[in-house]
Amino acid sequence: MLGVIEERLLATATADTPMVTEAAQHIISAGGKRFRPLLVILSAQFGEEPDRDDLVRAALVMELTHVASLYHDDVMDDADTRRGAPAANRRWQNSVAIMVGDFLFARASSTVAELGTEFVSLQAKTFARLVQGQIAETVGPSEDADPLGHYLQVLEDKTGSLIEASAMFGAMVSRAPAETVEALRRFGAEIGMVFQLSDDLIDITSDATGKTPGTDLREGVWTLPTLLVRASVDPADDELKALIAAAPHEEAAHAEALRRLRLHPAIARARAEVERRAAIAREILSPLPQGPAKSALLELCDQVVTRSQ
Ligand code: IPE
Ligand code: IPE
Ligand code: MG
Ligand code: MG
Repeated sequence: MLGVIEERLLATATADTPMVTEAAQHIISAGGKRFRPLLVILSAQFGEEPDRDDLVRAALVMELTHVASLYHDDVMDDADTRRGAPAANRRWQNSVAIMVGDFLFARASSTVAELGTEFVSLQAKTFARLVQGQIAETVGPSEDADPLGHYLQVLEDKTGSLIEASAMFGAMVSRAPAETVEALRRFGAEIGMVFQLSDDLIDITSDATGKTPGTDLREGVWTLPTLLVRASVDPADDELKALIAAAPHEEAAHAEALRRLRLHPAIARARAEVERRAAIAREILSPLPQGPAKSALLELCDQVVTRSQ
């Protein structure tokens, strides 16, 4: 099934000119974990009738929407690399990356239309949440807002929304009972949080993401580890706090902050939070019937916790 999805992804990204096709297929061909299509497929196993072609469509819609958001995100983050390849904004330019993201989103829209209005409506709500999450992250918390609360809301919207929708798409396409769709929705929302908390951790700790380490820090985006350091009242953390504050502006401060953050106890605390939330996600699955699909979702929880890419 994943093989069919790969073929269809490339076919759907074909445009009227070779240049646009090349740019639209660039990030798709570069690989990626295909986490959202996998979740669509696994969730569909809980329904009575996973109609094969609609299932492929549902998985395609989620991955196309995701990839479209990556083209835009790399412009926003001024990223150098994506999936181990030059980011589209580097290989071409910002305006091309933005338009190609729009093009892929249009392709996702045509595909979701084939699934029916219920799917179109969920897809639209999801994309609205995703972009609002991206905007909220860019704008940052207001003066009187709690930075941690703001951060968690950003995660729910920019990442949780699409992963939640992926779990629902699979269950809906296979006509799973309403309570199963709801359980999978809650699971998707929670594992989506775990996914982004983990992404934010490995932005600091991993050299294997296919992205440039320390991008969040360089862009001045506060994530759980840096929020924990910033909230620390231990005078021993004062130097690191100052380095983090200078990181977006000075290359030397950025490198030193990243080096020290990797050794800081905030990493272990953030990892504990990832594990705590993964346990909640596993718990949400408990009413669902035992079987290979549930085992695979439980396995997925472990992978999201321990992933390094
Ligand atoms: C990257 O998503 C953007 C986030 C929401 C963190 P993935 O980590 O799923 O990226 P790919 O698809 O595997 O490249
Ligand atoms: C972006 O989060 C999430 C979306 C694309 C909506 P990040 O900025 O952390 O994603 P990466 O690390 O670039 O993949
Ligand atoms: Mg980014
Ligand atoms: Mg990231």
